[in-house]
Amino acid sequence: PKTENLGLQEDVEIRRDLTGLYDDIRELLSKTQATLVPIAQYYFDGKGKAIRPVITLLMAKAINYHLGENSRNVVEKQMKIAQIVEMIHTASLVHDDVVDAADSRRNKSSVNKVWGQKKSILAGNYVVGRSIEICTAIESHEVLNLITKIFSELISGELMQLDGTANKEEWFDHYLEKTFKKTASLIANGCQAVSVVAGASSATQTNAFQFGRQLGMAFQLVDDLLDFVSTSAQLGKPAAADLRLGLATAPVLYAARKFPELNVLILRRFKEPGDVETAFDLVLRSDGLQRTKELAGQYCDDAVTQLAQLSPSPYQQALFTLTHELLNRMK
Ligand code: FPP
Ligand code: MG
Ligand code: MG
Repeated sequence: PKTENLGLQEDVEIRRDLTGLYDDIRELLSKTQATLVPIAQYYFDGKGKAIRPVITLLMAKAINYHLGENSRNVVEKQMKIAQIVEMIHTASLVHDDVVDAADSRRNKSSVNKVWGQKKSILAGNYVVGRSIEICTAIESHEVLNLITKIFSELISGELMQLDGTANKEEWFDHYLEKTFKKTASLIANGCQAVSVVAGASSATQTNAFQFGRQLGMAFQLVDDLLDFVSTSAQLGKPAAADLRLGLATAPVLYAARKFPELNVLILRRFKEPGDVETAFDLVLRSDGLQRTKELAGQYCDDAVTQLAQLSPSPYQQALFTLTHELLNRMK
């Protein structure tokens, strides 16, 4: 996995964990009928940024250090949680590319492009099912509750995005709630789950959850910003895609405060000829991109405050570095 751009030091031993994590996932997914295997394994190739498992594993290590916990049983359960997080994420991307009719991801053809919609949906569901199988082996109702909450929130977030909301006063809150459900919930609940199996107090569990929440919010805000400023080649997936999908993300919502003529375009989801180009131009002429970055920066500051409640450790330090790098990433 390409972790070098996350500023991780060798001493946090994340790379070795990640190799084992992907090996275990591929092994688990291989035990089914032959035609399903390559589809389900397609994105578990160790070529992604692996941000979610890295965050989950670093949080686990930071929590264990904080609690003086190092039993093998706990560490194995935390490894399973990191696998589940990566599997849920990947399954959601497979379905997302069907919903968004995307034809590329991570610089290769998307699953739906290679195998079609029907098999993509089935493969995504298969990965979900196998992730729940791992969860049952953890034997914790608390963890199972956190994981099942992720599924309902992911789907609710995706639906909120599909449906939008007509009331202009609600646009930004709707966007933030959608962003939590679509992106931050997975990271937040994953961070809480690794703290639960380590026996953390409810205050420490809250620190872990809130760190994941704030970092997840920042991550998606930067993603929505990059959709305007990065290229398809840099992102490995279509750029300038959100407007074409009818989506008004933070940069546009901020831009509409300066250019109210955007409101009508947002309401009709940029579907008239020229809408996408007009909106793109107005966003670039507004302070929307800068304000989006500032909001992401505030979420990162909050994430740092939560993390600072844990004892200083190399893992905590790596998470501070990662928070900084996520805010300033270009892909
Ligand atoms: C990427 O968003 C998509 C998500 C973060 C969540 C998608 C969730 C679903 C499709 C619900 C189904 C969930 C499961 C677990 C099967 P994006 O389209 O903004 O990002 P992109 O630019 O990477 O495509
Ligand atoms: Mg989408
Ligand atoms: Mg998409």
